[in-house]
Amino acid sequence: MAAAAAAKVQEVREITRIERIGAHSHIRGLGLDDALEPRQVSQGMVGQQTARRAAGVILEMIKEGKIAGRAVLIAGQPGTGKTAIAMGMAQALGPDTPFTVISGSEIFSLEMSKTEALMQSFRKSIGVRIKEETEIIEGEVVEIQIDRPATGTGAKVGKLTLKTTEMETIYDLGQKMIESLTKEKVQAGDIITIDKATGKITKLGRSFTRARDYDAMGPQTKFVQCPEGELQKRKEVVHTVTLHEIDVINSRTQGFLALFSGDTGEIKGEVREQINAKVAEWREEGKAEIVPGVLFIDEVHMLDIESFSFLNRAMENDLAPVLIMATNRGITRIRGTNYQSPHGIPIDMLDRLVIISTTPYEEKEIKQILKIRCEEEDVEMSDDALIVLTRIGMETSLRYAIQLITTANLVCRKRKGTEVSINDVKRVYSLFLDECRSTQFLKEYQQEFLFNEMNAEPGSETMETS
Ligand SMILES: Nc1ncnc2c1ncn2[C@@H]1O[C@H](COP(=O)(O)OP(=O)(O)OP(=O)(O)O)[C@@H](O)[C@H]1O
Ligand SMILES: [Mg+2]
Repeated sequence: MAAAAAAKVQEVREITRIERIGAHSHIRGLGLDDALEPRQVSQGMVGQQTARRAAGVILEMIKEGKIAGRAVLIAGQPGTGKTAIAMGMAQALGPDTPFTVISGSEIFSLEMSKTEALMQSFRKSIGVRIKEETEIIEGEVVEIQIDRPATGTGAKVGKLTLKTTEMETIYDLGQKMIESLTKEKVQAGDIITIDKATGKITKLGRSFTRARDYDAMGPQTKFVQCPEGELQKRKEVVHTVTLHEIDVINSRTQGFLALFSGDTGEIKGEVREQINAKVAEWREEGKAEIVPGVLFIDEVHMLDIESFSFLNRAMENDLAPVLIMATNRGITRIRGTNYQSPHGIPIDMLDRLVIISTTPYEEKEIKQILKIRCEEEDVEMSDDALIVLTRIGMETSLRYAIQLITTANLVCRKRKGTEVSINDVKRVYSLFLDECRSTQFLKEYQQEFLFNEMNAEPGSETMETS
């Protein structure tokens, strides 16, 4: 009986572990060693070593948190791992450093002005670590005794006995405390903390001395030591919120519920000024600390001249995050003007940037990346199929080859195979065109498509209208 129940629990757990696989889900960091030297293959990252080394230096700068408003541009051909490097940096920084990711085009589609959207992204990238001291009672529950009133109505009363390794005390319980003890299903043998200010009860786990009762509890039960010393303690709790969250909570028109819907609207300048002043005050009193994070703007060539000018200014604020941008454009028109500029970025902005460039991959790197992707997608692929796929990656693009992994695996499963073979890869290669063959096809059959503009007057670009 017990074994069957345990097996069931196991199954449920496996199901909840399934995650979706995204374009960059194999990236777990930058893959650097302690001396910031990139390992050839590590944490899902392959090659591109100069860029990774440079990103590592920036990472150190961000971790130190002293320098505000620096900006980095990652520039290189499509599919050379610019977004992947930025994601690696986010992973390496960990969850405690705010890392906001937006795409250059995003700021045009929100229900607010471009500059407001950028401002909100800036403030989402600055964390405020607020320290608070609270009084708590922490101990092991010896006994809970709840007396029901004899009449059957009226408030319940009761007693709670808690102990540490050194002392034991009995506390009187009121109605509210009884309710929360029942809600948390607290029993004798649990280690709990009670926040004195709010009355909130948190279960830390079961006492080790109760480990014998294991069978009755199931595998999730966490065992902890019985606390030492006094029952009453002062504890420092730390919350990390972003400046943007503080803005939204304090903006009278929105209220904190807007944080859930994301529909925060525009926030008034005065609100932000007040909050900056308040945060500065907390910092002076030692109650709060600033955690500067990162704002990553992908496809930055989509920003227009006004947005760039706003960024120039915003970066000079001492509450500015480190700005990382990425682009795959060469010399092109700056959006909103008729001027051309490298990467479509105005010269005065470029002047404030350090530029990391990425270069196309060699064959063995492409092979390695494809191999990692196969592992990520749980696809078994034969060695010669991988070699063919690598060739395809070299001749078309890395992205196209990555797409073929999933599709070839489906074809393989369809024929009830367990390992993707050369034929599976060939089959999907003929089913799905890459960009080059598709263009070729269009050139051959353009007459049969609607709106073909092959013979339209030169210079009429349809892609680049703003
Ligand atoms: N060095 C690398 N190590 C591991 N995976 C990589 C590496 N470089 C790229 N990839 C993977 O290859 C794919 C394409 O890379 P990515 O999206 O980062 O290119 P990009 O430079 O941002 O291109 P674009 O200019 O088109 O935005 C992604 O799935 C990415 O995770
Ligand atoms: Mg990209």
